[in-house]
Amino acid sequence: MTPSNPSPDAVPSATMPSEPVSVADAGAASWRQPRPRSLVALHWLTALALVAAVAFILVRGEADGRALRQWLLEGHRHFGLLVLALFFLRIAVRLRLGRLQAPAGMGWVVRAAAALTHVAMYALLLSLPLLGWALSDALAKPVHLLGLSLPTLVEPDPDLADTLQAWHLDAAWALLALVTLHVGAALWHHFIRRDGVLRDMLPKRTRK
Ligand code: HEM
Ligand code: HEM
Repeated sequence: MTPSNPSPDAVPSATMPSEPVSVADAGAASWRQPRPRSLVALHWLTALALVAAVAFILVRGEADGRALRQWLLEGHRHFGLLVLALFFLRIAVRLRLGRLQAPAGMGWVVRAAAALTHVAMYALLLSLPLLGWALSDALAKPVHLLGLSLPTLVEPDPDLADTLQAWHLDAAWALLALVTLHVGAALWHHFIRRDGVLRDMLPKRTRK
């Protein structure tokens, strides 16, 4: 299933932040607008911070000893807050870039599904850490970042803490489901459509 090459002016983009590549360079299909390196770096840093936040909380579930569990929770919060910081940076970069050109030959349903998935992931990259932050406050465990006390979002409240804990967990599951879908889509681009979308999101050194 290899789509035909587009005309050079197919799918206009609002901005062209990097140099366009020729269709031949881009692979079998027609991925003509390289993703800016800043966006690629922020994408993979976010993925690493997410994996680290999840790893810390999962290991904590198995750990014994108060000090170790406390340290693992601190690690979880720090990487979770890094996800939040990266979200704001990424939104700033994304707004500056404007609309990015989609690979040609993709129908509107697929484009809409991709856009919806991206927006939903962005929404969770914002709400999940904020829920964790509010949960910590509700549990009366103030949030620190590199030794600095962060402002409290809510007052200590055990009932609210129960609700926020459930929401925090639900949001984590929802993000996991979307990321699974997203990774499946990236592999579909790479192995079925062969359109260079995944290759273009990889760090430069590993690009063929
Ligand atoms: C954005 C990345 C984050 C992910 C994927 C994530 C995921 C999770 C998961 C899966 C749990 C286990 C929930 C349960 O078993 O009930 C959890 C617990 C928790 N998270 Fe997060 N979280 C993130 C960010 C944060 C942040 C930024 C904070 C605070 C600043 C935070 C604070 C907490 C707290 C206090 C718990 C409860 C720990 C306990 O059971 O005592 N999380 N998180
Ligand atoms: C682990 C957590 C991940 C999250 C939260 C995430 C999130 C996102 C988001 C929000 C975008 C949209 C960027 C934009 O245009 O604004 C994106 C793009 C992309 N992601 Fe991920 N991603 C993750 C992991 C991965 C992995 C593991 C792969 C590869 C197997 C991948 C491949 C891609 C590709 C190829 C794009 C470019 C799509 C396009 O430009 O239309 N992502 N990712």
